[in-house]
Formats: sequence, structure tokens, C-alpha cells
Amino acid sequence: MIDRATVDKILDATRIEEVIGDFVTLRKRGANYLGLCPFHQDKNPSMSVSATKGIFKCFACGKAGGAVSFLMEHEHLTYAEALRYLAKKYHIEIVEKEETAEEIANRMRYESLLVVTDYAQKFYSDVLWNTEIGKAIGLSYFRERGFTDETIRTFGLGYAASRPLTLCTKAINDGYKKEYLIDAGLCLEREGTGELYDRFFDRVMFPIHSISGRVIAFGGRTLKTDKSVAKYVNSPQSDIYDKSRSLYGIFQAKNTIAKNDKCILVEGYADVISMHQAGLTNVVASSGTSLTVEQVRLIKRFTDKVTIIYDGDEAGVKAALRGIDLVLEEGLNVKVVQLPPEDDPDTFARSHSRIEVEEYIADNEKDFISFKSDLLLRESENDPIRRAQVIRDIVQSVSVVPDPILRNIYVEMVAGKFGQKTDSILATVSELRRKKKAFERSRSRYADDRQQRPAESAPFAPEAEEGQAAESVASTELQDAYLAVPERELVYYLIKYGEYPMHFEKDMLYGSEPAAEVKVAQYVHDSLADDELVFVNERYRVLYERYYSFAATLPAEVEYEERQKRIVRYFTTGEDQALNQEVFDLILEDHPLTVKTYEESIPPEEQALGRTVPKSVLLYKLRITEEQCAATAKQITEAQREGDSENLRELVRRLQLLNTVKNRLSKELNRL
Ligand code: CTP
Ligand code: MN
Repeated sequence: MIDRATVDKILDATRIEEVIGDFVTLRKRGANYLGLCPFHQDKNPSMSVSATKGIFKCFACGKAGGAVSFLMEHEHLTYAEALRYLAKKYHIEIVEKEETAEEIANRMRYESLLVVTDYAQKFYSDVLWNTEIGKAIGLSYFRERGFTDETIRTFGLGYAASRPLTLCTKAINDGYKKEYLIDAGLCLEREGTGELYDRFFDRVMFPIHSISGRVIAFGGRTLKTDKSVAKYVNSPQSDIYDKSRSLYGIFQAKNTIAKNDKCILVEGYADVISMHQAGLTNVVASSGTSLTVEQVRLIKRFTDKVTIIYDGDEAGVKAALRGIDLVLEEGLNVKVVQLPPEDDPDTFARSHSRIEVEEYIADNEKDFISFKSDLLLRESENDPIRRAQVIRDIVQSVSVVPDPILRNIYVEMVAGKFGQKTDSILATVSELRRKKKAFERSRSRYADDRQQRPAESAPFAPEAEEGQAAESVASTELQDAYLAVPERELVYYLIKYGEYPMHFEKDMLYGSEPAAEVKVAQYVHDSLADDELVFVNERYRVLYERYYSFAATLPAEVEYEERQKRIVRYFTTGEDQALNQEVFDLILEDHPLTVKTYEESIPPEEQALGRTVPKSVLLYKLRITEEQCAATAKQITEAQREGDSENLRELVRRLQLLNTVKNRLSKELNRL
């Protein structure tokens, strides 16, 4: 644990241009430095490093951050590791927070458990390679499965025999403590006699590694076909092994995952190993269970693209659907590949060359939402009731996607596939998101269950990303000026009419009448929150935020017109004269609505809020989408220039979809 003062000292000493300069050649350009961005295939220098601000930013791929995040990203370090790296570079002594006796004991215990599992791994592999029984049973089994000797060594495979070749006998003889053998889940104590015996025997052994390559657990597979014997025996949870936080193969796969910017996810140990042997080394397994949030975050340290390959049979395909919402929710881009019905990744990788496997993946990879849609669509073809359930199910998946643009793209797609109105899908998505947010709010009031365990107690776990937020740079490339108009307009409605009720005309809001009366401020807030939009322009954002914090202080029993008066007074009599003036100017206008078609609105203005405010919100969203289109078009030109045809295809597709969203928004806007 590094104390705060030392962290500050390290960050003060850090010169970002020197840190990045160790990996990338930087040239001075004016106040900044320029270099080839190491995070994408950069042909012309696109990464700019500002020594004074202490930040870097790539104008091509958008990566940005400080020295610490550069190291985390580039060297795959955790936050703490990056700080230690910098401390070493700048000769700053790290004052470790003084450990309590208990912490020391825990750390020693932790180390001891790892020492024992490491010993066990060596023992099992020694049995495999160097004993008659190990060679005759274990080694020949692996070789029959097609694993090469090199592969067997890379994954540290072994064999657990039985008496007299037991781990417990050997380990105790070699001076290892009984306590640790038990706590690491390797041995058990016989009740009554207290005699020690092995958890694993007559099984081939797959060691499970932490992200840094230390053995933390084992999976042992029986070679018997007898149904009464469990196929796998796995290490139990222990202080060093948390099943929900580990992924089989992550240590062997992490570098390629980062390099290829893609992680392939399979189900079992054998799948990982065969894929690896075929030359696809960015593969990990969830070990037969559905993914956990922690596993997803582990992947996210290296990439945000996951392709799930499951068995071709019915059960495998169904399994592919389980737990994926979780992955979507973490903002990962999920694709699914279905293998031919008779294959699993293991058999497929063994019967095809690397190129064939890669081609198969490329040709059959389907975006998760369309995969799920197609699958369920087929299944519910002639059953309208089932079809309604299926739509809800898919809309649920869509609603958890955090990126609003991507979410809108999915809405369009699902509507198309199921022959539904985009608006009604959109309305359901909004509804689900609102509910989920309400649920999360109510839950966070009680529980602190998101608290991660402190990093020291689980070094193989993804560490809390403290300090990263402070380092991150606003990476928006949106044109502030273009968005200033609708942002100003929304602030206008808030300060002038925020507390007023909106009189909706029927069929106004996504085709249905709102259940309860909504006030303008509520409507604006919810609409923006739905798409996670924040104001780009600082001055309007400040006004926007201040509005809600001030309005919250007003007593609810005060009449809305009176509340609004107090709000206007608050915003026009503050200390900042310039701001007062600006707010005055703003609210003295009438109908600032920027959309031409709405010139002859019905006075008085407050009667029309149910029409004008939604219009304003839509206009804002439209402009943001337009900005995204422009940015994508720019990237397309770039990609064309560089002849990056793969990227180009993806970009063109994105642009088409963005255009669809844009058209829908303008259509909507014209309808209002
Ligand atoms: N698994 C487990 N316990 C079981 C069955 C399965 O822990 N009783 C986990 C293992 O991690 C296994 C994965 O689920 O690797 C997939 O199961 P399965 O397909 O049955 O095993 P494979 O490893 O593919 O075994 P094999 O190909 O040798 O039959
Ligand atoms: Mn298998």
C-alpha cells in the first residue's frame, strides 16, 4: 500500500514526455510533443503529449490519459504497479504504509499458500513426466488428445496418482505445513484420525494461473467414463483462489489479447489448450459457468472486444445466451460464433489449421444482439405469445448497453428484425433503463456491496481503479459551438419553465400518453439521463447542474409559479454579474426554438411546453448524432487514405447506422 503523500510525490516528479518517451519517439511541436500512437496502427504521428498539462491524447484513436494511465494501458500494469514503476524511474522511495501484525500474518499466509500450490504443480507434473504410472496414464492421455509436449509444458499439466505417490506424503516429508496444504484446498483431514489425504487422485491435472502467472488452483479430470465419478474435481475457494475472479488461461493469453485487441472466450480447459496449440493464443475459459462481473472486468483490462465460441449443439448455443447481458452492461463489444453442430472449440481447433479457424471465426462471427434475435426469432416463428416474450427478452439485452449510440443502433436493428415500430422498442428500452436506475438508487442506499476487496488481499484480482478518474481527459471531440444552441435552449426552458407541468397532447411521447403529469425539469433530466448525455459547454452545464441542486432546496408545497420565480431570482441576483446578465438575456426571449417549422407556435408559450420541450431535447440529440456522423466520416477518409479496408468496412457500417438514427430523429422532430 502506497500512502497518499508518496503518491503525490511520485506524480509531482513525473514528466509525462519522459515516461512516454521511453516507449515512443517524440518530437517537439510547439508547446507539445508528437509521436506515433502505440495503441493503434499509426502511420503518421497522431499522439500528442502535453508536458504542461501532463496528458497525452491520440487524435486518431481517441486514447487519452496521464502518465499513469499510459503505463497501465501500454504495459498492462495495475494502478499500484504503474506508481511503483514511476517511483523507480524517479528514484522516489516508497514508504509502505506500516502493516499491522495481522496484515503481516495475512501476507505471509498468502505467500505460503502460493508456495504450496506452486510445489503441488511441480509435483503433479513431475509425476506426469517421470513416473511409470504418470507416463502410462496421464501423459499418454494428453498425447492421445493431440497435445504436444510443448503445450503440456506451457500449461503446466500434470498427473495426480494415488498411493503411494501422494502429494500429502511428499509435501509433509519436504517440510510443508499441514495447515497450508489444507487451506490451499490440496489436502483434507480424515475425521477422527486427523490423517491427511489428497483431494486429487487418479486425475490429469490442469493448474489454474493468476494473471501474473502464479498457480492458484487446479482442475482435475478423471479418465474414467464411469458416470458415478465426477468428471472434474476443482480446488475449492480459498484465500488465493476466487473462482468468480479468475479465468482459465488468462496468464498465457493476456499479451495476445491486448495485441489483437480481442479476447476469445470458450468453455473448458481443453478448449483453451487446443485453440492455443492451433495458434490462437488470445483464448480464455470461464470454466463451465456463466461469466461474472469480475471476470468481465479482468478481460476489460486488455480489450473491450469479446468473441464467445460455444459448442455447436443446442445446449451450447443456449449457454451462449446466459450471462451475456452482464458482458454488454460492462460496455464490452460482444460477438458470438456458433460452431458446426458436431464440434466444440477443442475438436474444431484440432481438426483445422490456424488460418481455417480464424477464417471460420471471421465468417461466422455475429454481433450478439443479432445472434440472439435470429435464434429466438426462429424459435418463436409460429407462436405470437412466445414472440412477445422473446422481444421483451431481447429489448432487455439492448437496454443494458451503456453506449447510447450503439444502443440506438440496436433498437433500429431489433425493430427491423421483428417488424416492430422503432418508437415502441425505444419506449420500452427507456422504460427498462428508468426502472433499472430507480432500482440501483434504492439499492445503493442500503448496501455497500460494490466495495471491492482491497487489492493486497487478492493480487490476481482486478484492482480498484482509484485515481484513474482524476487522470482521465475529457475526450469529447464534439464541436462545442454547434451544441451550444440546443444546450442554451434547454437551459432556457429550465430557468423559465422548469417547474411548470407539461401539457402533453396525446400520442406525443413515443405514441402513448404519460401516466402522470411531468414537470419540464423532470422531463429534460430523464430524457438526457436515458442516453447518458452531459452538456458539452461548460457554462450551460454549470447552469444545468445548479438548476437541479437549487430546485431541490425549494419546499414542495410552494406553488409551481412561485417556485419558478425563486429560481429566476436565484439565477439573476448572484455574485457573478456577467452571469446574471446572461440569464436575463436568455429568459427575456420568447420561444427560442431553433427549428424553423415551429415558428407559428400557439401562444401562450407555457401551454405548448408539452411540444416544445420534447422538440428541444430531440434537437439536441439530433445534433449530437450529426456530430458523430461527421466524426465517423472523417475517420472513413482517414481509413481510405491508409488503405485500412477492414476498418473501413466497419466504419461505413457505423456511418450507415448512424444515418438511420439521424433520420429517425429528424423524422420525429418534424412530426412534433
Ligand atoms: N467443469 C467442471 N466440473 C464438471 C464439468 C465441467 O468444472 N463436472 C468445467 C471444466 O472447467 C470444464 C468445463 O466445465 O473444462 C467444460 O466442461 P466439459 O465440456 O464437460 O469439459 P471439457 O474440459 O471440454 O472436457 P473434455 O473435452 O475432456 O470432455
Ligand atoms: Mn470438451
